[in-house]
Order: sequence, then C-alpha cells, then structure tokens
Amino acid sequence: MQSLPGFRDFLPNDCAARNYIFARWREVCRRYGFVEWDGPVLEPTDLYKKKSGPEIVAQLFSFTDKGEREVAMRPELTPTLARVIAAHEREFKKPLKWFSIPQCFRYEKQQRGRLREHFQLNCDIIGDQSSGADVELIALCIDLLREVGLAADDFVVRISDRAAWDRFLPDFGIGPEQKADFLNVIDKLDREEVEKIQPKLELFGVSVARLMAFLANANLEWFAPLREQLETRDLLQYCEFNLRIVRGLAYYTGVVFEVFDRPRKFRAIAGGGRYDTLIHQLSDGAVDFPAVGFAMGDVVLGELIKEVPSARKKMEEAIQSQHDLQIYAVIAKEERRPDALQLIQTLRDNGYRVDYSLTPAKVGKQFQTAEQLGARLAVLFGDEWPQLKLKDLCTGDQSLVPREELPARVATLLSSRA
Ligand code: HAM
Repeated sequence: MQSLPGFRDFLPNDCAARNYIFARWREVCRRYGFVEWDGPVLEPTDLYKKKSGPEIVAQLFSFTDKGEREVAMRPELTPTLARVIAAHEREFKKPLKWFSIPQCFRYEKQQRGRLREHFQLNCDIIGDQSSGADVELIALCIDLLREVGLAADDFVVRISDRAAWDRFLPDFGIGPEQKADFLNVIDKLDREEVEKIQPKLELFGVSVARLMAFLANANLEWFAPLREQLETRDLLQYCEFNLRIVRGLAYYTGVVFEVFDRPRKFRAIAGGGRYDTLIHQLSDGAVDFPAVGFAMGDVVLGELIKEVPSARKKMEEAIQSQHDLQIYAVIAKEERRPDALQLIQTLRDNGYRVDYSLTPAKVGKQFQTAEQLGARLAVLFGDEWPQLKLKDLCTGDQSLVPREELPARVATLLSSRA
C-alpha cells in the first residue's frame, strides 16, 4: 500500500526539517507581535464556493458527511479567518495581528514544489487600512525568509495593486463587471503560452501586443508610498513592482504580492494581499473590517532552502541538533541494569536526553550505537561500580566518577562543550 499521490510521509528527518521551519516561522511572527490561532480542517463547502474563486473550488477535496452536509477540507485559511473574525468581532482589540500554520489540501497536479497537502504559514492584520500595515506584512515576509538563511539574491517580492488596475481598465474599454475575469487572464500571463492568452484577451477586445506595450510602459508612480516605506526599512532590494501580479484568489481588493525564487524554478513561495471586503461579505454586512495578509508554503520553502547552500547548512545543523543524544548509558554488567535505570531516570529528570539498550548487548555494540546516535557522553555501568566510567565521545577522554557526582560532572562537561 502506497500513500496517495501528493501526500507526504514525514520520516524523522522530514519531521525535524518541518519542526525547524515552523520554529523559525513562530519566532519571527512573535518578533512582529503576532499571536497564534487555528481553525477547523473541515468547513462547509459553501465557504470556499462563495469566497475563494473558481480555481480553488475546482481543486477542493469535498464530500457529503453523514449528516448530509457538503463539507470540504480547507484549501486555504483566509475564508475561515474572515468567518472567525465576524463571529468574535467584539472580543479583541483592533488591529488584530494573527498567525497560524494550517495544513491545507488542494487536488492539484503533483510536481516538485506542488503537492496535494501542504502547510502554510498565514499572517494577517485585521482592522487597519493603512499602507503601513501592507508594508509591515511585506517586511515580515522578507524577515521570515532571511531567518532561514535566504538573501536578496535568492528571492524577490513582486508587488502590485489590484486597485491600480481600476485606473487602467477604462483605457482598455473594460467595465467593472468584467474586471474579475480580465484579471484572471492577467494572473496567467507568466504561466501560459501566448497562443492560449491571445483568444482569452480577444474576448475583451484587447490584443497581446497592446497589453504587453502597456505593461512595459505603465507608470508605476502609483507605488511611490510603498516604495518610500520599503526604502526607509532598507527592504527595497528584495522588492519589485509589477502590474502582472494580480493573484488568482477572488477576494483581493488592493495591494497584492507574491514571492518567487530568483531563478524562477518553483511556484510562488508566498502570496497575499489586501482583502477589505471579505469580512463584510461573509457576515452579510454585519461586520466590516479592512484586512491584509499572506501565506507562505512549507513545500516550496523547503525546496528553495535545499537549493541555497548556506540555508541548507543551517537547516541540516538544526535537524542534527534535534536528533542528537547527550548521554548514552552503556550497561556492561546486566546486574547493574537496575542501578543504571535509576541514574538514567535522574539524568532525564534533570532535562538531559539519555538513551540505552533495552536488551542485553555487547559493550562494543553499545558504544557503536552511542556514536551512531550522536551521543556526546557515554556512561559505563560495569566492574567499577559504585563508580562509573564517563567517556567524552568527542575527545575520547575518560574518567571515573562516583555515582552521586554524575549529574554534576555531566552538567560541567556538557556546558563546557556546548
Ligand atoms: P496562495 O497563493 O493560494 O494564497 O497560497 C500561499 C502559498 O501556499 C503559495 O505561495 C505556495 O507556496 C503554497 N501552496 C499553495 N498551494 C500549494 C500546493 N498545492 N502545494 C504546495 N504549496 C502550495 C492563499 O492561500 C491565501 N489564502 C493567502 C492569504 C492569507 N491571503 C491573505 N491572507
């Protein structure tokens, strides 16, 4: 039996890599004053039908539950967030700065960096309309990537504004009712062949040549306030302004951005933007808050980290340090096992990572296991009892230690070599 296509088994090294990425994400989010929350994995299918847009709805893992409800496994978190905010509107002081790490499910064609489940760090600010909130999120997104060892040569944040298109669409003779469909075509510009784009644009009476000329010459003055704030924070080197970025999700209303690896090997690492009307719509007009946020996927980020040597090294060290044992107890004489277990318990109570052989084994074999597990110290329970032989597995130094002094000696050795 194999796992389903696009679903991962997390073996210990994969879990350690995931722990590393999540730990870095949590650390940086807290640095920015964000607090963690979560929602349910399963939601009414209608939540996404109404709010996410046709692309995501076509990818839903959905079914009818035993109570005849139409339900879907979450493909994203933003509609849930809007629902939760509308329901708990009065309980929190605005602006809210919330983050979450949901596992999301999308029935997509599996390829490198694109699976049918992925974890997504979501960061959102609710109740603040200022461009300061937009920039704060772009800065957070950049810092999350810098934290794992990526630099301006490795990724770029491409920023645009859906509202900017409102100014340009009349020039193409496109009315507000056609805006969503037209922006869907723009969203695919970088992903589809010209032959596929041409007929779609023709439906709007626009030629590819005219659109390309417009994009090449568009006045990007619109972005001056964002540009200034990013420059003040010395973050402009990570950013690029580009009207082609409109995002595939239906609810975005203003600034939108996507992060790509510079060589463009992968799909976006992260994407987000302003969705000022979603909460209002989901609450049938009862609650109205501006909102802005983004999500970063663990799959693409993991692939990119592996491509960049300095980032990869950082992750490998973190993986190693999660597995490394501090102490291995070598039981040379079986009659010493009860004494060994007592001391092992004491060491574990003191917070040390300690392991030993559950069944009798040759001393040489136990030392070999200690090394394979990356233990820093070995404690030998043998003929020397009530003294113990303490061996530093890095330096090879050995000494005899009375059993009651073991915790203190271990503490000294481990702290001096930390
Ligand atoms: P999204 O662009 O659909 O945005 O997804 C965000 C990120 O999740 C993508 O950039 C990508 O890294 C990752 N991702 C998405 N689908 C897959 C997949 N099939 N396999 C691997 N990774 C994937 C949203 O979901 C918005 N709700 C983000 C947001 C939050 N907007 C405002 N707040």
